[in-house]
Order: sequence, then structure tokens, then C-alpha cells
Amino acid sequence: MNLLAIVGTKRKNGLVSALASKVLEGAKANGHTTSLINLYDYKLDYCLGCWSCERNGKCVLKDDFNLIFEKVKDADVLVLASPTYWSNVSGIMKTFFDRQCGLAMSHGEGKELFGKKLPLGFGPRARMEGKKAIFITSCTTPWPFNLLMDESKNTLRAMNHYTRKIKAKVISKIVFTDSRFLNLKRKKNKYLGKAWEIGLKL
Ligand SMILES: Cc1cc2nc3c(=O)[nH]c(=O)nc-3n(C[C@H](O)[C@H](O)[C@H](O)COP(=O)(O)O)c2cc1C
Repeated sequence: MNLLAIVGTKRKNGLVSALASKVLEGAKANGHTTSLINLYDYKLDYCLGCWSCERNGKCVLKDDFNLIFEKVKDADVLVLASPTYWSNVSGIMKTFFDRQCGLAMSHGEGKELFGKKLPLGFGPRARMEGKKAIFITSCTTPWPFNLLMDESKNTLRAMNHYTRKIKAKVISKIVFTDSRFLNLKRKKNKYLGKAWEIGLKL
């Protein structure tokens, strides 16, 4: 399989970067093809909201998004890695989602319900079904408060919304909590081991 990690953090030595790389390492050891895109290494502007991508199959903005999206289309497994920022994905990961709203889905074809055509735009159609997805996030809030207080829970919800819309199947989640934990090194190593195994078992 072809694995693509999309990493949305400036902290290249941080937890989610390390965990995403480890998943890829494990997958590579098992013969899969892997690549990693740190969104900060690319020029990625905000979505204009013009929907021209939906009609033309590519974005009008002159930045690196079309290149990134070609790789997304080619991937069998997407590894989405973002720290939890304000109970959500990082801003750049959100931009990555925004930029493909009209590419990953079509809102204009119209669907049928009980034999009747639904209004255009109702129930968008996924344009790249069949992918698998792995989520990675990290937050300082300890378990179970990361869930009870909607901290990394919301990050996962945002990732889930994207994969549900593109009809990708979520096969694994790595949620690192309490990242100010005193014994961080030991915990980090344990999670790196977990990440490696997830990749290896693909
Ligand atoms: C701008 C910003 C916002 C954050 N918001 C949250 C938050 O809402 N909840 C939380 O538990 N941690 C939050 N954190 C902490 C990070 O999620 C945490 O440090 C995480 O482990 C960083 O992952 P990294 O090592 O990959 O950078 C925030 C950190 C920053 C810099």
C-alpha cells in the first residue's frame, strides 16, 4: 500500500511528528511505500470558498495545494497527525481540509432518496472512496479529561468528519494525553512502539 502522512505542526521534533514517522517506519519495514508531508514545508493559503475546484478539478490558488492533493489521491492510507490546539486540529490541518472541500466531494451531482432527486448540494458525494486512515494527536490534558472536556476528543471529531465525508475507513488512532507527564520519555517510547506496530501490522 501507499501510505501518506499529513503532518500539521511546526514542531518537527514534537510528539505527533515523531509518532507519524514511526507509523511510516513500521509500514516501510513491512514493504509498504511511505511518504510524509509536513504542511509547513509547503505554501498553503487559505481556501477562497469559490468552489471553482469542484467544477475544474483543481484549485485556482497558485500555491502547493494541487501538488499535495495529487499525493492525497494516490494514497491508500492517510495518516493524519495534528497536535490538539484549542480543542481542535491545528490551523494548518484545518486549512488542508478546507482546501479540498470541492475536490474530495462533489455537491453538484444531486442524489436520490426514495426515487426522488434531492436538491443540488444536498448530501455531497465522495470523490475518492476506499482509503484507510490513521489519526494521531497529542494534548496536555490528562485522560479521561481529554475526552470529558472535549480536548483531543474534538480533534478526533474534526479528523473523523473529514474521513467520513471522503468515505475513508479509520483503522487506528493514537491519542497521546498528558504530554507534560513527569515520565514523558518512558511514555513517549511506549507510544512510539505502538506507532511502529500499527505501521508494521498494515
Ligand atoms: C496553541 C496551542 C493550543 C493548545 N491547545 C490545547 C488544548 O486545547 N488542549 C490541550 O489539552 N492541549 C493544548 N495544547 C497543548 C498541546 O496539544 C500539547 O503540548 C501537544 O502535546 C503538542 O504536541 P507536539 O509535541 O506534537 O507539538 C495547546 C498547545 C498550543 C501551542
